[in-house]
Amino acid sequence: MYQFGSRLEVMKYLEPFLAAQLPYLLRKVESNWQPMDYSPDLSTEEGFEEVRALQEEARALPDDTMTVLVGDMITEEALPTYASWIATLEGVGVQGEPQTAWGAWNRGWCAEENRHGDILNRYLYLTGRVNMREVEITVQHLIADGGDTQTENDPYRTFIYTSFQEIATRISHLNVGKIAQQVGATRLFHLSRRVAGDEQRHAKAYKLFISKIMEVDTSEAVLAFQDMMKKKITMPAMYMRERGKQVGETFKKFEVIANRSGVYTPWHYVEIIENLLQDWDIQHLANLSPAATKAQEYLCNLPERYRKLIERLYRPKDEAEIVQFSWLLPPALKHTAAISV
Ligand SMILES: [Fe+2]
Ligand SMILES: [Fe+2]
Repeated sequence: MYQFGSRLEVMKYLEPFLAAQLPYLLRKVESNWQPMDYSPDLSTEEGFEEVRALQEEARALPDDTMTVLVGDMITEEALPTYASWIATLEGVGVQGEPQTAWGAWNRGWCAEENRHGDILNRYLYLTGRVNMREVEITVQHLIADGGDTQTENDPYRTFIYTSFQEIATRISHLNVGKIAQQVGATRLFHLSRRVAGDEQRHAKAYKLFISKIMEVDTSEAVLAFQDMMKKKITMPAMYMRERGKQVGETFKKFEVIANRSGVYTPWHYVEIIENLLQDWDIQHLANLSPAATKAQEYLCNLPERYRKLIERLYRPKDEAEIVQFSWLLPPALKHTAAISV
């Protein structure tokens, strides 16, 4: 087999494959869903009735769920950070060739992702339960602060990260949707499922990129996977901060509610690792370098190690802990903020 000398060579080699796949990995813009498909049309009288119904259903959502949804929206809204990060990757970056297939993927993916922040932001605004200005401050902080994904400009590490991240966001949106369904918030249920569907398709695409990389640069890809697992995936949400707070303070509270509401827990972290191990068939990879063979063993044992650790240390339901965020309006204000038509 031809030996590739660098990441850049591998990325260039995969260009024609990606170019052929793009029409299947991304949806056609004209027929794709848009946030407006899930929004009240305020150019009509019915639209205002629709807002009233939306506010009614949103009142049934538990505060924890509302808060997780706000956090999810904030991380979706930080899309400029992710777009600019992926644009600088080796093989994706401009380098005099702005119209590469990798560049097209990045733009197409961002264009699809952009709808997620839009629809969640709009829904939350219309509920009348959210202090949108405080949320907007957190969004601006998150974009301005940036964060460290610990992937540098390495496409291997980055696509491992994004494979993980897309699955994680899918889980979170799906679980918010489930709670919404249980309390009768059907609008939120439908739009959460829609967004989760996109995340699923994006996860498949990123996993496919790593599978293709593994075909030609197996040992390096396995080593990159090990490296990312050792560093642990740092979710963009970790860098969220409310007004006057330091990085980490907001996420500490956010973790409590994400865990106890069951929307995203450490068990999900392990499930995602297992999903990736299986999809990339890590345990059956052959002809690895000695270092990659060790990494393979490390990776295959990882879920079991995590499971033991979680069983020993994780206490899921800390219902008693009162966690407050500046993002939600206090109950008294909720009422006055609700529009009446
Ligand atoms: Fe998204
Ligand atoms: Fe996504």
